[in-house]
Amino acid sequence: MRTIASLPSLDGKRVIIRCDLNVPLDGQTITDDGRIVASVPTIKYLVEQSAKVIVISHLGRPDGAPDAKYSLEPAAARLGELLGQPVAFATDTVGVEATGAVKALARGGVVVLENLRFNAAETSKDAVEREAFAAKLAEFADFFISDGFGVVHRKQASVYELAKALPSVAGFLIEKELEVLTRLTETPERPYAVVLGGSKVSDKLGVIDHLLPTVNKLLVGGGMVFTFLAAQGHKVGKSLLEVDQIDTCKEYLQRAAELGVEVILPTDIVVASKFGADAEVAVTAADAIESSPFGGNGLGLDIGPVSAAAFAAEIASAKTVFWNGPMGVFEIDAFAGGTRAVAKALTQVDGLSVVGGGDSAAAVRILGFADSDFGHISTGGGASLEFLEGKKLPGLEVLND
Ligand code: 3PG
Repeated sequence: MRTIASLPSLDGKRVIIRCDLNVPLDGQTITDDGRIVASVPTIKYLVEQSAKVIVISHLGRPDGAPDAKYSLEPAAARLGELLGQPVAFATDTVGVEATGAVKALARGGVVVLENLRFNAAETSKDAVEREAFAAKLAEFADFFISDGFGVVHRKQASVYELAKALPSVAGFLIEKELEVLTRLTETPERPYAVVLGGSKVSDKLGVIDHLLPTVNKLLVGGGMVFTFLAAQGHKVGKSLLEVDQIDTCKEYLQRAAELGVEVILPTDIVVASKFGADAEVAVTAADAIESSPFGGNGLGLDIGPVSAAAFAAEIASAKTVFWNGPMGVFEIDAFAGGTRAVAKALTQVDGLSVVGGGDSAAAVRILGFADSDFGHISTGGGASLEFLEGKKLPGLEVLND
């Protein structure tokens, strides 16, 4: 892969850098700035090299037109704070504002352009439209640095076509993510445990399929666990269930047994009368969810305390752990116990602990853990999963020599 080390002097050169500044916002307030923090090392380096730095990113999924609630302005402001220097913000992406802001850049100056996805061409299915948009972005710069790891699984104009339109290399964040994730797929120290949660088992099928031959233990929690419990023949009340994936889960359980992989499912479940902080709550055996006071209406919203302790013990004694997906509805305290226990156990791993991006990264920060408590917190949700599925990611392929 082409990297920053291969670039000539950047003094006075215009460098456009694709970051993933897609951070969660509550109004104008950033609730988790992890992705901005992770983008700083490459941008800082470019500033120190006296480049003129043009930062581009998407935020959320606007409909191909400007939408104030998806503006990157708060992210630009936070980037300025983290860099300790003023960061300009252009209110469009390839229009007069952006053109003017890029022209005005001094050596070591930084501008953030408005959300790429305010332009329908960014995510267009039509390669010609994407190329045309990428060509406009390319006019702003002499070099392209791809550093938005969270978006490398997307074949989008600023990720793929722009990399073809300019001399392009991977930034430090992508290098770091790949170094860690490759250790998970190629040289994991054993025992190697993978912990999966989150709501949908269908999002995790690829990663289970690909990792089963590599891992020693697979721990499953979160909403997806109920499809596994159903595959074992248990009733799950009103808990999340993907009926069309029950057979696939059965096959995985069978294959895991053949491969000698231990699949660890919860033995107890926190069941609620309804979804919400004011629900009534009970703990039942995982194979008897409908025996809770709520009968067939019970809703499993977290793994139970016995399972949380058992999962924690398995995790803390592993040498390599990859975790993606919360164990329950961690945003509500009554259902955060499983996720908290798993996160804490990851901090105790004597080896490599990796938190997959998206919800699990948000969970550890919301629950009060520090990034430095873990070996690595990936900035990629879908991207890290697709990498671990062994898929070829367009945004990485295009950076290969
Ligand atoms: C993410 O949040 O995983 C990345 O920023 C990619 O966003 P997307 O799923 O909207 O393409």
